[in-house]
Amino acid sequence: QKETTVVTLKNDDKAPVINKNIYGHFAEHLGRCIYGGFFVGDTSKIPNTKGVRNDIIAALKDLKIPNLRWPGGCFADTYHWKDGIGPQEERPTIVNKWWGGVTEDNSFGTHDFLNMCELLETEPYLSGNVGSGTVQELADWVQYTNFSGKSPMSDLRKKNGRTEPWKVKFWGIGNEAWGCGGNMTAEYYAGEYRKFATFMSDWENTGGITRIASGSNSADYNWTEVLMKNIPLNMLGGLGVHHYAVINWNKKGDGVDFTEEQYFKTMQSALKMEELVTKHGAIMDKYDPEKKVAMLVDEWGGWYEVEKGTNPGFLYQQNTMRDAVLAGATLNIFNNHADRVRMANLAQCVNVLQAVILTDKAKMITTPTYHVMKLYAVHQDAKLLPVSFQSPLYTVNGESLPAVSASASKDKNGAIHISLVNVDAKNKNKIEIDVKDLGVKNFTGTILTSAKLQDYNSFDTPNKIVPTVFKGFENKKGKLEITIPPYSVVVLEGK
Ligand code: AHR
Repeated sequence: QKETTVVTLKNDDKAPVINKNIYGHFAEHLGRCIYGGFFVGDTSKIPNTKGVRNDIIAALKDLKIPNLRWPGGCFADTYHWKDGIGPQEERPTIVNKWWGGVTEDNSFGTHDFLNMCELLETEPYLSGNVGSGTVQELADWVQYTNFSGKSPMSDLRKKNGRTEPWKVKFWGIGNEAWGCGGNMTAEYYAGEYRKFATFMSDWENTGGITRIASGSNSADYNWTEVLMKNIPLNMLGGLGVHHYAVINWNKKGDGVDFTEEQYFKTMQSALKMEELVTKHGAIMDKYDPEKKVAMLVDEWGGWYEVEKGTNPGFLYQQNTMRDAVLAGATLNIFNNHADRVRMANLAQCVNVLQAVILTDKAKMITTPTYHVMKLYAVHQDAKLLPVSFQSPLYTVNGESLPAVSASASKDKNGAIHISLVNVDAKNKNKIEIDVKDLGVKNFTGTILTSAKLQDYNSFDTPNKIVPTVFKGFENKKGKLEITIPPYSVVVLEGK
């Protein structure tokens, strides 16, 4: 029997607000994410709005997705946006070099994406092409999407049927510049960034765009150091970091058929996020002590072998309770670092990697990760309540990880939300939280768990894993005593 973990919550006026953009998503031209996922075309029998599936729009609106990154990923540095505007039948094709070598017809382009974001009520985050594009091309894209006055690009936009600009705020200047974005050194990329950023204005001098640098590959701290040192802070709205939870890049393991040891290794890699945001954050603090520059973890999630029988270039994988635990624990890390982490993008939204939505022709299902995102939406734009506790350990083969993960916030109406994850795959954990001074009395709870860690929602059993009422706690005179089962995610609400 394990001892009780005492979690302390602090009502701290100086604590940051959890930026809703931490709950962001990512949609790349990869596999069946856009074509055959979001976008089925307006002649499809699947109910759609201008070619975008209505069931996906509804599910994502329910999730309150705050932003959506597009068109890549690696694809972004091969993408020429002018090929995706104007009459569809006149658009040239593009071969998707990175993902399966498939030929795309460019039928889903800038208008389709930005109009879809309006339907989703979400902020677009466009990734510009630095690797194989030009400064002029990217500057033109901003003018096309954002300029309301008269100009060559705004005239072209109007000719293509859109009078008002979309006013896109978030702009990535390249993606993974250290790899598929051009195999650049940090020093070289810093120079490229400065050049591209100089010509990327919102054309109205209102400071209306946030320019985001392609960040490091996981623990490449030198990348962050060089960029922070060489890019003037007034040119840098945000700096990315990419980190995937992976067992071993050469042997990633199956998405569904995995052992407890493999689960442990996945979680070991996922929980490394704590160290990554702490260390990258410390480097950023050196150059930007006022924390003006946001850290964006603009690609994160679990990465396994593709589902058997599917195209290896399409990165299609199922999503189990392992992914739910991974998502819950990672989002707790982001919440707790909300002073610096102001955006994150789960990779990826539909049919790719740790997706929240999977489709099979007309069928659509939501994954355990979807449910975690939905449960955690209560933290969006809420004030962080810093937590402190000593976690018990989860030990496998002599290696240990913290078993308990937690974060908490207070929303605009004064409601308190505490999200708890038990990472331990074998043992329940007892947690005690003193809530006397939080100004709330009545608590309710929701849990996401399942009989087996390997359980998932399939097209035949789409509701195998759904949130249910959580009764495993007692409020003893202002002290919550909670027992959280193995591999489960719990959100408590106090009002
Ligand atoms: O999300 C899949 C790929 O992972 C992205 O295209 C790339 O940026 C990263 O390496």
